[in-house]
Amino acid sequence: MGAGSRAFLRARRSPTALPEVSEPAWASSTALGPSGSAGTGLPRLRHRPAWPLSAFAADDTSVQLCWPASPAGELRIEVGDAVVELEASPKASLLVSLYGRVLAPMSGGPEHQGPSSLNRLARLASAGPSSHLPVLAGTRQLDRAWPAGPGSALVEGLSPCTTYDVVVSTEGGPRFLAGRVTTMRPPPGRLLCRVAVLSDVHIGEKHFGALGRLWDGLGLASGTEPYPVRALRSAVTEAAAWGADLYVVKGDLTRLATAAELRDAGSLLAAAPAPVEAVLGNHDNVLGVNMRAVLASQGLGVGWWPWARDVPGARLVFANTAGGDARHNAGSLPTALGRRVAALAGDAPTPAIVFLHHPPELRRYPTVYPPGLPYSQSRDLLEALASSNPSTLVSCGHRHRNRRYRYGPLVVAETGSTKDYPGGWAGYKIYEGGVLQCVRRTAEPDVVAWTEATKRALNGQWGRWSPGRLADRCFSLTWR
Ligand SMILES: [Fe+2]
Ligand SMILES: [Fe+2]
Repeated sequence: MGAGSRAFLRARRSPTALPEVSEPAWASSTALGPSGSAGTGLPRLRHRPAWPLSAFAADDTSVQLCWPASPAGELRIEVGDAVVELEASPKASLLVSLYGRVLAPMSGGPEHQGPSSLNRLARLASAGPSSHLPVLAGTRQLDRAWPAGPGSALVEGLSPCTTYDVVVSTEGGPRFLAGRVTTMRPPPGRLLCRVAVLSDVHIGEKHFGALGRLWDGLGLASGTEPYPVRALRSAVTEAAAWGADLYVVKGDLTRLATAAELRDAGSLLAAAPAPVEAVLGNHDNVLGVNMRAVLASQGLGVGWWPWARDVPGARLVFANTAGGDARHNAGSLPTALGRRVAALAGDAPTPAIVFLHHPPELRRYPTVYPPGLPYSQSRDLLEALASSNPSTLVSCGHRHRNRRYRYGPLVVAETGSTKDYPGGWAGYKIYEGGVLQCVRRTAEPDVVAWTEATKRALNGQWGRWSPGRLADRCFSLTWR
């Protein structure tokens, strides 16, 4: 056992090395106890929700409420004294094919008689919902029992560590208690910096999912920008409104790393209204293109060896893990480079956040697909980090899901993709005494119409697996 391992074990045994964690909470009306409506004078829902609304994100001062479908055109949400009134979005629809083949019989004008399956899909998309088509061979509206579509509302100006009733109503309908949300406690000290973190933007992707491919009906039918571009552009815009001082992109910028995809990704990211740091993912290392040169030509510089950037309150460390076997979506961070990452984190007088594409693998034999870093490299990296700077958050992408777990004193967070369910970005608020992570769904209706559809991937399992728990997405760490 090396010196690093011994130091890691000491750190793991010492409770003072562990960061203090604060999490938000959400209880839907159906989950509240008998006292759920006490004091509000409002009806509480016992069975099927009248409006399937839940808290997707909450930090110290805000909550994002999301719903897959709406009960009416005009919606009203009250959280404490804050009131949000908005109009429901149109219903989302699903456009599916089995591996590119459209199985249903076609009928349409001569402009749609092209041989490619894409033309046939475009015809399906413009034809609108078709109830007579089999589920896996055409379009259908989502959540057909509801009159309007998915959406979200961001409620700001709340107080930390406070529980609020979420009261909702619709045009002409009664007010009712939809649930209760509790905001989290922020780390101590002043807020110093905001970093917006995006991952797995996959510019160039044409469809999503296995066991039936999901297609972007909106893009095919109307000539709207492809869904990865819409999702990235909207995430960057929403993060700018949130106040991002810096953007970090955690790899898989493209689908296949063609020169065109890299150019598009580079120009979109270089246009962000704040500096951008990016690492590469396995999808950026497929064709042997000089990816860094193409990105640099668009104004997006990407380092190769581990590097660091200091922001107020933290050192950000970046490392590329794209050197693994791309056939298996594998990553690689040789031990020498892992030690370099740990040295960069340890040299800082502040806590550190390490950004990687591939998550470290905590088991010798991976149980989750796609695989992260090889187990031996993961162990070497995490033990070196725990030894050099126990006040470190490791932030990864690659699996398109939201999860949080520990390794000794370290906290590891995986955050999801911008372009598939739930579809969003993570805001990191760096305080004098810690860091707060809050993953938000991108709210732009053109994006939500697509990300809601991708919930149905893998026969609906994607919608259950990808989002994680509220406490996976939103938490605050106080360094000790
Ligand atoms: Fe990815
Ligand atoms: Fe990946």
